[in-house]
Amino acid sequence: MSLPARGDGPPEPPVPTVLVLNGPNLSRLGSREPDIYGTATLADVAAACAGTGGQLGLAVDVRQTDDEAELIGWVHEAADRRLPIVLNPAAFTHYSYALRDALAMRTAPLVEVHLSNPAARESFRHNSVVAGVADGTVAGFGLVSYELALRAVAVLAARDPGATT
Ligand code: DQA
Repeated sequence: MSLPARGDGPPEPPVPTVLVLNGPNLSRLGSREPDIYGTATLADVAAACAGTGGQLGLAVDVRQTDDEAELIGWVHEAADRRLPIVLNPAAFTHYSYALRDALAMRTAPLVEVHLSNPAARESFRHNSVVAGVADGTVAGFGLVSYELALRAVAVLAARDPGATT
């Protein structure tokens, strides 16, 4: 009996994509307040996300912007493509109702993520205007927060396989 050669079987299903979106000042990770945010750079975050995504069968698309409009555009793109989002909104967390309104239109899982634990910091960081439209939040574990958030997305996406590439 011969086994089918590679490529003879049905086509592999596409690997689901997750957008990992990062807001203002996160391009400065590594040198930005390392006592709070650690010494990992955004490239390190991206590499960790790619590694975790690989384990979970997810393709990760890591992006960063300081621009609220650009970030909202990416959220619209995710809604149109039915892509899950792992989002570190950075300072937008605390005041961007425009970002919250965009996220409210989401069509796939959304996990909010923070490197630090905002609840243990200045009072203006205690409120997230994003949390109420997210599936959940992971905060306080540095780079590991992103890895945990991707694991949460994998669980949520498995429950609702509507999310696609
Ligand atoms: C942050 C926490 C926010 O309060 C802050 O404005 C950031 C980073 C975090 O990842 O810990 O820029 O989102």
